Amino acid sequence: MALYAPNQKLSLAPSTTNGNARTRRTRTKHPTVVRMAASSSDVAAYEEGQLERPKWAGETPLSRLVGALISFQPIFSVLKFGARQVLISTAEKNNIPWREMAREILESDVYKEMDSIQIPSVVYPDYYLNPFHAYDEGNLSWLAAAEAEAANLSMTRRAIPYASSLDEANHIMRGNWVKAIEQHHQQYSGKIRDILDIGCSIGVSATCLSDNFPSAEVTGLDLSPYFLAVAQFKEKRRSPRDNPIGWVHANGEDTGLTSKSFDLVSFAYVFHECPERAIIGLLREAFRLLRPGGTVAVNDIAPKSKILQELPPVLFTLMKSTEPFLDEYFLTDLERKMREVGFVNVQTVLTDPRHQTVTATVPH
Ligand SMILES: C[S@@+](CC[C@H](N)C(=O)[O-])C[C@H]1O[C@@H](n2cnc3c(N)ncnc32)[C@H](O)[C@@H]1O
Repeated sequence: MALYAPNQKLSLAPSTTNGNARTRRTRTKHPTVVRMAASSSDVAAYEEGQLERPKWAGETPLSRLVGALISFQPIFSVLKFGARQVLISTAEKNNIPWREMAREILESDVYKEMDSIQIPSVVYPDYYLNPFHAYDEGNLSWLAAAEAEAANLSMTRRAIPYASSLDEANHIMRGNWVKAIEQHHQQYSGKIRDILDIGCSIGVSATCLSDNFPSAEVTGLDLSPYFLAVAQFKEKRRSPRDNPIGWVHANGEDTGLTSKSFDLVSFAYVFHECPERAIIGLLREAFRLLRPGGTVAVNDIAPKSKILQELPPVLFTLMKSTEPFLDEYFLTDLERKMREVGFVNVQTVLTDPRHQTVTATVPH
């Protein structure tokens, strides 16, 4: 598969308006448009480790030790605080103005979006009410929503440390994900007209899909009305799209949307936040929502990533303290679950040093 790889130079070719857009670097302070690579000479060279998953994940003694430490409340509180400080200081060292970006949102009119976004009858599954990412209310707070973009950029920077800029890191990470989707869909299906991005958060993945598939109707769906409010707020401030993105507040396991109405259902960085039962529920709903020949794409942490398998103990302990379902995610055999739900053509590719994209098709 032709993907952006380490040491590959990005061209600055102008973007085109069709799905085969070329790489484009934005000149804005924070990148907003990411387009896929067009070159076919790129080589994917992301390294896998020797193991199925890191030693600090799953049922190993090391994993149990870390789990026991985290479940002890006083230690958990210290870790949570530490994890948050590390996230913010690492971001700011990488020129991501975390506190400034959050303040900009918190002092804006974003709150006005809530009325048009929130569906009061939505029921939150129990797993969703856990603390996530060092926020006691998990994804259900304005602070989490205001800090999500900085956190997202920081994750991108960590994933592609060899990139010469944040912009380039973003192009590699999101560009390879889009390219993996496009290649899978082209191989097994036709045109992508309708896209559902489940777990769209503050809209980064949904806007990226809309930028790359401009003729498609994109819907971003999430359980957090706070995140969706930020997504809608930010989207209203950019130039209008030919196909505006729709935002839906719902549980991705039971969306209430029409069966067989999408060509692509995407989950970007959603599954590592979910227990296995929710992963299965989300896959079943995607299967119901896709037309025959439709593609599901799951982008997330790669258990086989060499870098992750070699992470220093302090870092993986901090990581586990903010991700309550990380172990369950690492233990889930995703390809197998996809086949059990009914998907075919299941394929996994490392799309950056830390992440993989798993694509599959609903049979015709
Ligand atoms: C890390 S964020 C996703 C980021 C985003 N897709 C991106 O690529 O930048 C994970 C998202 O999944 C959402 N989520 C988790 N479980 C969900 C569910 N059952 N239904 C809908 N959204 C869910 C969370 O609210 C959160 O916004």
